Amino acid sequence: MTNYDSVDIFTDVGVATRPDPFIEHLRSKGPATWLRPDVVAVTDYATGLAIFRDEEHYSTVNCTFGPMELPFKVEGDDITDLIEAHRDQIPYGNLILNQDPPHHAKSKGVLMGIITPKRLKENEEFLVTLADRQIDEFFKDGKFEVITQYSQPFATLAIADLLGVPEEDRPTFKTLTGSLPGEIGGVAPEDVSSNPLAQIGIFFFKYIEDRRANPQKDVLTDLALQKYPDGTLPSTVDIVTAATFLFGAGQDTSVRLIAAMLRYLAEDQELQQRLRADYSLIPKFTEEVLRLEGTAKATFRLVKKKVKIGDIEVKPGTSVMLMIRAMNRDGKRFENPADLDIARRNSQEHVAFGRGIHACAGAPLARAEARVTLERLFDRTKNIRINEAKHGPANAREYNYWKNYLLRGITELHLEFDPA
Ligand code: HEM
Repeated sequence: MTNYDSVDIFTDVGVATRPDPFIEHLRSKGPATWLRPDVVAVTDYATGLAIFRDEEHYSTVNCTFGPMELPFKVEGDDITDLIEAHRDQIPYGNLILNQDPPHHAKSKGVLMGIITPKRLKENEEFLVTLADRQIDEFFKDGKFEVITQYSQPFATLAIADLLGVPEEDRPTFKTLTGSLPGEIGGVAPEDVSSNPLAQIGIFFFKYIEDRRANPQKDVLTDLALQKYPDGTLPSTVDIVTAATFLFGAGQDTSVRLIAAMLRYLAEDQELQQRLRADYSLIPKFTEEVLRLEGTAKATFRLVKKKVKIGDIEVKPGTSVMLMIRAMNRDGKRFENPADLDIARRNSQEHVAFGRGIHACAGAPLARAEARVTLERLFDRTKNIRINEAKHGPANAREYNYWKNYLLRGITELHLEFDPA
């Protein structure tokens, strides 16, 4: 039996691929517990939710990388000013997710100016066409691998459409799918030629410069002329960073959500038939899959000001690991938490999209992608099943998951179906 007290979550591949026993071990120690002298893990829903909403004591500057050596000496009970003074030396410190107030509000303003309800509605109409185009590619085979043949190109082109990427460039975008997370962390390759996000950035740089010089009646022009809430025009780099970030944040996350949903449905034919008979159940089902198998298993905060988490006194400079998956499976919040229950009344209280000022800007898109995918697949197929030649028989299935402590994602999912 694994001795979880000696396990290092940051390097242990077993815990990365099978996180739940370790999560329950941590939970048994209290709402928050030390993982190492510089990291506190939070498994309790209420405690974590309060931290998500507390920008006064916590910074997201370490959100992408987790525990890291800070480029300054931690002194005193409040390091807010030290973080700001050294932000440029912190990897990805200026990304929207890693920014703190007041700068974060400026960046979020630009982002929400791009992802408007009107744009989302137009985008949703396109998602139907896009789903059908992807399904056409494998329909005659009666089988497909979900990630490479459906959800990866679908999620990439969904964001490309949201941002108004011209049709002629979309085939190239389709090939620029996100890089897989590393063995245990989640860092994109540095080399621009092999980094899809850097290549997407180059496209957007050209688009923004061009539309600022020659405005047209299109989404890219709206994007290029987007202003900060104070009326000033962002630099081209700021817009490119925001657009590129959307691809980074919205690709693998939606891709793996779709795969997780299809795995549940292919494994449970009765549930699949219930959803096929009543499409209004799809959103509830989606929330339950987000709760149980949301792509972000955890995120980080850096303590700015001395604070108490549960009974633990925590000093500035400490990393807090908010264990999203543990919070979403907290039995004090969700009855029979490990069960997927589409009749559950409070599924939507899950924190798969985070909470507070950094709550996921792409949540409406992710939900629309999930719904449109299931509706189109249900309309065009009769029974979606696990491909047993690939995953083994019902009593001995084999699925592989990312060996990553932050992200949850099945690596491959092979399905079969009969045409409707
Ligand atoms: C199933 C799909 C998704 C999941 C599970 C997910 C999860 C998350 C989580 C947990 C956060 C907050 C992190 C934190 O506070 O530490 C976040 C933030 C964010 N997400 Fe998502 N996301 C998904 C899809 C998307 C999509 C499709 C997009 C864009 C098109 C997107 C864009 C963003 C952005 C821009 C932020 C940062 C917001 C801010 O800092 O204010 N996400 N996401």
